[in-house]
Amino acid sequence: MPSHVPSEAQCVRIALGERSYGIDIGAGLLARADTYAGLPPSASALIVTNATVASLYAQALRSALAPRFGQVHVVELPDGEAHKDWATLNTIFDALLGHGCDRKTVLFALGGGVVGDMTGFAAASYMRGVPFVQVPTTLLAQVDSSVGGKTAINHPLGKNMIGAFYQPLQVVCDLDTLRTLPQREVAAGLAEVIKYGPIADMAFLDWIEANIDALVAREPAALAHAVRRSCEIKAAVVGQDEREAGLRAILNFGHTFGHAIESGLGYGEWLHGEAVGCGMVMAAHLSQRLGGVDEAFVGRFTALVERAGLPVRGPQLGADRYLDLMRVDKKAEAGEIRFVVLERPGAAVTRPAPDGLVREVLAQCCG
Ligand code: NAD
Ligand code: GLY
Repeated sequence: MPSHVPSEAQCVRIALGERSYGIDIGAGLLARADTYAGLPPSASALIVTNATVASLYAQALRSALAPRFGQVHVVELPDGEAHKDWATLNTIFDALLGHGCDRKTVLFALGGGVVGDMTGFAAASYMRGVPFVQVPTTLLAQVDSSVGGKTAINHPLGKNMIGAFYQPLQVVCDLDTLRTLPQREVAAGLAEVIKYGPIADMAFLDWIEANIDALVAREPAALAHAVRRSCEIKAAVVGQDEREAGLRAILNFGHTFGHAIESGLGYGEWLHGEAVGCGMVMAAHLSQRLGGVDEAFVGRFTALVERAGLPVRGPQLGADRYLDLMRVDKKAEAGEIRFVVLERPGAAVTRPAPDGLVREVLAQCCG
């Protein structure tokens, strides 16, 4: 789909053959009708959002969509990771059926990663697949979850365990929406920004270190660069391995430990980005024990995560509990946990690790 966004905005392409699309990045995009000019014609749209985001942006999006769609409906989900479940997903289907939505109805995910993941899964399943657009309003969603087509809900026994690969038609990253984010959510988003450095681009990690205060303070130019570069890296990885046959797993750096923290404490206790930040520190320690990086790198990396405002010590769940929780990870094979570790600064691989080494890391990093 060609980009119709204003010239001062940027577009990062995600190249997936007939499923290719653009990630539009700029200020003020959400409320502009021309942002959506490339979408296919349809009689109706459904904006899926939550109460928090609806009060800030639903009316502006609705007005922008009105010239293009005959009817624009809105459904509000309860806010929070604890609601990323079957019951909440079902309320999207209730709205779609209740409004008589058809196969051409376009779903708009307006919100953070929770709304985005659930809307994507609903779009993948309703009538076996309807078009959808991601309008991410958190930093985390703009740099990661809205891009690449992973959609899911949680299960009490495991994070993001039920879902589908399903690509959006377009991603609209309106940088202005980041102004209303609580500071804790900014830090959570920075975890996923920082992630791209050690796994793929050390020059970007250097840039993040030099600009971390500007990022924490939400300086627009710094945020614009961080969102664009993160999306470029993610687009390059997903373009090579859409369904995570191999390479894409590197995007889960820190997530094996992080998902264990999230599900072990109960969803919503720690933010996803907080768990990933701390999980990356643990994964860096494991990488050191496996010979991929040295102590100086781990120290430097830990300091950066801390400067972003993220926790660097994990909760004391007990090593056995961590190991049990990590065996439910999607990367596990025949009960063997596979970790994303750094084989050197700027390059990651997925591999198993001896339980003994993992226990050493947990003893060093928790409590
Ligand atoms: P979130 O969706 O819970 O949003 C965080 C909070 O910010 C919520 O309370 C939300 O209502 C609020 N909010 C959103 N936009 C706002 C704004 N502009 N102003 C004020 N408040 C706003 O959390 P998140 O960090 O965006 O996403 C985390 C989720 O994303 C997790 O479920 C995680 O599993 C998922 N995720 C998915 C992928 C993927 O590839 N699909 C990648 C990373 C994370
Ligand atoms: N956030 C990990 C991925 O998209 O693969």
